[in-house]
Amino acid sequence: MGRLEDRVAIVTGGGRGIGQATSLKLAAEGAKVVINDLDPEPANETRELIEAAGGEAAVVVANTVDMAEAQRLVDEAVNTFGKLDIVVNNAGVTRDKMFHGLDDDLFDFVFDANFKTGFHTTYAAMPYLRDQAKKELAENGAVAYNRKIIFTSSVAAIMGNPGQFNYTAAKGAVIATTKTLARELGPFQINVNAVAPGFVETRLTAAKTEGSDLGIPEEMRQMAKAIISLGRMGQPEDIANTTAFLASSEADFISGVTIPVTGGQLGGM
Ligand SMILES: NC(=O)c1ccc[n+]([C@@H]2O[C@H](COP(=O)([O-])OP(=O)(O)OC[C@H]3O[C@@H](n4cnc5c(N)ncnc54)[C@H](O)[C@@H]3O)[C@@H](O)[C@H]2O)c1
Repeated sequence: MGRLEDRVAIVTGGGRGIGQATSLKLAAEGAKVVINDLDPEPANETRELIEAAGGEAAVVVANTVDMAEAQRLVDEAVNTFGKLDIVVNNAGVTRDKMFHGLDDDLFDFVFDANFKTGFHTTYAAMPYLRDQAKKELAENGAVAYNRKIIFTSSVAAIMGNPGQFNYTAAKGAVIATTKTLARELGPFQINVNAVAPGFVETRLTAAKTEGSDLGIPEEMRQMAKAIISLGRMGQPEDIANTTAFLASSEADFISGVTIPVTGGQLGGM
């Protein structure tokens, strides 16, 4: 029996990288997973992988930078699986630029994709998380089980990172608001935490190729490895395992924290 039997989870950005690994892990632990992404193809690939392993999943293509889209995502999740217990706010993107070259559009694009997606999805989930818990408390004096919200920050917000003024503004805001929400929602037995990945091998940290918006310079990849105590880049599964733990009842007394998952990256602990 998995740790998340009978739970329903949303994973934003679940089509690739850390979000895909997290969707697979939550499903392997027994959760029914609603995979959200901007792109239908990778999202459906995640769904097929879950189904091939005997799990249950659904796809909702939506850009939750838009509040109405977040509402639609949550409504479709509840219409499909009947309830909602776990929200994993993983969607995010980078568009690195040194500060002096930044403009408002590039700031807003990255801030919104990394911060507003989680804000909106979590907000839309309140009737199913907070109101449901409130009802259980009124009727039974206790909730049926703790519900979980997990945000994705980044070690870049803890250490600072050249070229990521926009990204670290969002990921730092995630750390701060995780604490605030944990305080607000604690009385309803809703745990609110964040993970702060270090260097994890996905398309965001692949070697930057000519003309690509994503990725980082190869020298930076080599430098990253040199400052990781465990001597390797992280894998998406390393983050997925941490998120699954936070989503499980084993983490019922953990709230308001951001867990660095960095392989002991110097300066990022
Ligand atoms: N890879 C790393 O080293 C690293 C380090 C720290 C933090 N993170 C964070 O982890 C999360 C996942 O990153 P990843 O490396 O797996 O990236 P990725 O690019 O491999 O996957 C991210 C997925 O999110 C989707 N997405 C982007 N914007 C979206 C939106 N507005 N709505 C819905 N889906 C959206 C993309 O289509 C993509 O499928 C991000 O929040 C990222 O900032 C990653």
